Amino acid sequence: MDLFSAIETRTSCRQFLPDAVDRETIDRILAAGVRAPSPLNSQPWQFIVIRAPAIRQAIYAEAQRCIAWAIEQSGWKWLSKYKTDFLLQAPVLVVVVGDPKKTGMDMFQEEGTVGYQLACAAAIQNMLLAAHALDLGSLFFTLFDKNQLRRILDIPKEKTPVALVCIGKPKDPQNPAPRKDSKEKTVYLD
Ligand SMILES: Cc1cc2nc3c(=O)[nH]c(=O)nc-3n(C[C@H](O)[C@H](O)[C@H](O)COP(=O)(O)O)c2cc1C
Repeated sequence: MDLFSAIETRTSCRQFLPDAVDRETIDRILAAGVRAPSPLNSQPWQFIVIRAPAIRQAIYAEAQRCIAWAIEQSGWKWLSKYKTDFLLQAPVLVVVVGDPKKTGMDMFQEEGTVGYQLACAAAIQNMLLAAHALDLGSLFFTLFDKNQLRRILDIPKEKTPVALVCIGKPKDPQNPAPRKDSKEKTVYLD
């Protein structure tokens, strides 16, 4: 698949078939992830590949808890219709764990350390595109409390679970979500 068509046709997948994704395919997707740029080439990511049912059940329970909390905080009733069954369905969940110590010069800046999170997000986008190029669906998922995910996955407190990526065969054909034209979002200063 050509890069531009991959970018244009990728979309978030929230319904997966149970078909297994083999280890070689997962490794290819992760190899695309680590090609992302990072501050000082610090490569501040680690990947936890989850297939174990008991762990995904714990992550699912955490997402349900977060949804209940978010409804309480926001009053957004529509959130109660949001189902996270994909955490149980998707054959592979990859948690991307960032290292705040590998963040580049921003560690000395007042606004704080975001470089490692940006690098993890770049790695995740590479993974989403690689999965799509391999005819797999994927989802960038962040609805969890970081400390709860640390507890479930035994991640040390010095590291940050940045996001979870669900990967698997899409249940239905995928239609890209609409976007505003980039021209509406752009200013040229010539
Ligand atoms: C930082 C980030 C966090 C996201 N977190 C979630 C999430 O927790 N749950 C979810 O269903 N989708 C999540 N998404 C996916 C977005 O909802 C999705 O990208 C957006 O609606 C645009 O749709 P598309 O990816 O199909 O183009 C997240 C995306 C990003 C970039």
